[in-house]
Amino acid sequence: MAEDPKTATAGSPFGKPQVRIDGRAKVTGRALYPSDEPVGNPAYAFLLTSAIARGRIRRFDLGEARAVEGVLDILTHETAGGEAKPPEMQSGGKTTTTLESDRVWHDGQIIGVVVANSYEIAREAAFRVRVHYEKEAPSASFGSPGAEEEVREPGEHKDYRVGNADAELASAEVTVDGWYGTPTQHHNPIELFTTTCAWENGKLTIWEPSQFVYGLRGNVAGQLGIDPEDVRVVSRFVGGAFGSKGGATARTAWIAVAARRVNRPVKLVATRDQGFTIVTYRAETRHHLQLAATRDGRLTALRHEGWELTSRPSDYNVSGTETTARMYACPNILTKVNIVHADRNTPGFMRAPPDTPYMFPLECAMDELAARLGIDPIELRRINDTQTDPTNGQTFSSRHLMDCFDRGAERFGWSRRDPRPGSMSNGDWLVGLGCASAAYPSNIAATAARVSLRPDGHARVQIAAHDIGTGAYTVVAIMAADQLGLAPEQVTVEMGDSSLPPASLAAGSSHTATITHAVAKACGELRDRIARAATTSNNGPLAGRDPATLVLSAGRLTAPDGAAEPLVDAVKRLTPGALEVYAENIPKGLSPEAMETLYKGKPPMSRGQNREDVTAYAFGAQFVEVRVHSRTREIRVPRMVGAFASGRIVNPLTAHSQYMGGMIWGLGAALLEKTEIDPRHARYVNDNISEYHIPVNADVRRVEVIMIPETDRDVNPLGVKGIGEIGIVGVNAAIANAVFHATGKRIRQLPIRIEDLL
Ligand code: MOS
Repeated sequence: MAEDPKTATAGSPFGKPQVRIDGRAKVTGRALYPSDEPVGNPAYAFLLTSAIARGRIRRFDLGEARAVEGVLDILTHETAGGEAKPPEMQSGGKTTTTLESDRVWHDGQIIGVVVANSYEIAREAAFRVRVHYEKEAPSASFGSPGAEEEVREPGEHKDYRVGNADAELASAEVTVDGWYGTPTQHHNPIELFTTTCAWENGKLTIWEPSQFVYGLRGNVAGQLGIDPEDVRVVSRFVGGAFGSKGGATARTAWIAVAARRVNRPVKLVATRDQGFTIVTYRAETRHHLQLAATRDGRLTALRHEGWELTSRPSDYNVSGTETTARMYACPNILTKVNIVHADRNTPGFMRAPPDTPYMFPLECAMDELAARLGIDPIELRRINDTQTDPTNGQTFSSRHLMDCFDRGAERFGWSRRDPRPGSMSNGDWLVGLGCASAAYPSNIAATAARVSLRPDGHARVQIAAHDIGTGAYTVVAIMAADQLGLAPEQVTVEMGDSSLPPASLAAGSSHTATITHAVAKACGELRDRIARAATTSNNGPLAGRDPATLVLSAGRLTAPDGAAEPLVDAVKRLTPGALEVYAENIPKGLSPEAMETLYKGKPPMSRGQNREDVTAYAFGAQFVEVRVHSRTREIRVPRMVGAFASGRIVNPLTAHSQYMGGMIWGLGAALLEKTEIDPRHARYVNDNISEYHIPVNADVRRVEVIMIPETDRDVNPLGVKGIGEIGIVGVNAAIANAVFHATGKRIRQLPIRIEDLL
């Protein structure tokens, strides 16, 4: 393959706004989400979940449930517990079990599966199961009796120790020191957590919304002790995921077991409230953030210590100090992340898993420092901006943080901000203007793709990638069209099926960069084959030309001297049918075994690709205007501006949606979202979307997105950084800073509510 795929030649759709190629199918209902896929004669499952958070199951009374007409089977630890093992978790470590044993680790844990001829019968029977527990007092969260804190040494794990932060903090001219907290949050995708399983001749098909079909395939095969080749996962469309459909969870294998036992396909659509406990969520975090600085605003020390909640057996944590330690030039850095175990389900990825909670304290502390020093918050960031990663001395592959601030400030009208808190108002409303930095690492993974081209100029791309609502189908079509000189409408894209060549998981803002490189590689090889055949034949118009100089565009293969051959003729020379190429892209920094590992369902990722000696991140600046009512203290957000520099943008239309969605979700995280937990029972209380508040149109009037053009030749050959997550990062801090500007109150615990401002 050409090391550096050429893109955006004349007429290329790369970088131009393109409506989704699957948009029509989605709005007309033709797009099949996994639970829509037709299966013959299905039985229906309803999950039995635990009503206690800690203890053991002494016994089940199943008689009444079994007596309901139409019940086919009831799986419990006694009847089926030995038929599957727990899945491997995102952390790779230990986690809670489900019906493998009588142990209850958390409220709402799957403890059984009722299978019946209809959903209604299964549900009715599930309500008639009597469970006798041996109950123990659970620990709900930080500070609960019985919660166990695992204190790590500074610099251990993914943490940093540069210089001597403690000594500097003790002697510095200026310091800020604060404790911060972020709550439990749940993804709440509109599409529920569903699984349909069917067996045929010892082979299992799973229809389940997934951010990683090969991962789910490998995991379930391991749980059932069967060959991954005998498992197929289909997930053509995903109705929202945000991290919640990234890792395998327990339900899938149990539905497979149920389908095998009743010898029929089995469908599960878990309820909204079950979705709060049978998959992952964003853990609550605590932070102690300390900064030291000179009077002229140069940071001299950063100390960031985090605590994250997890389940009793798991050590899952997101360790966002990896980003906060890198944000600003600073000679003394100390970071440390501790975990706290309680009787809860195991947390996992949720949009910008590390950076959303960890950038909150840093960016609030920067605002506080700016106020303390009488320096404009943007200028304070400019003083401490750096092109060098302070944790290891590497340069950033590109870093246009201050361009984001400058462009964003101009659009936002930052210059009219009076820095004195409480100084700006509009009628009965106090006005606050706040800003914060955003950052997210750029990752790329090993992935394969198959591309075929018909003589009529129609291409088909096959790749087990995932469209989780982001527009991935369209990105793949754009990339293939760009490389083959076609229009996106001439490209058919097949994704979301583990019978296709493997793609890594759609997570970590890595998917676009990952899949475009594999598609470009396959297309490049296809083009090379056609060009070689055209130039080595004796009788074509391009005979004798240098194949490397030929350009494929607008259905023609053209030489620099103007000689050309229609693609139809060039392809026909090689095959009467379609010409097909399979290619694998293993980014630099990954071992040659990366592809084999991917086939087994593990996602090998590398940060950046072209050079391993650079730190690869996307950057952005968030601006928010808040209005706080002078008497009721109601908080509104009339306006948000986000400016981002994330390398080259494949499709500005869907990129705009990604950024905007992230920003609005940041508003939710700052002002609305919190999963409340009853401390006595360690049970989620608002496990529905009428009481778990997410932002809607009326919650934000104007959202403006600025995409700063950025050329980065070191991040990867195509210069594509990830954009899936950076949009949410820093919004929570920008809102807290705006609330401070409006009211003079520094709120360090999210979400910020009316009662905090009374
Ligand atoms: Mo995303 S939270 O990395 O699925």
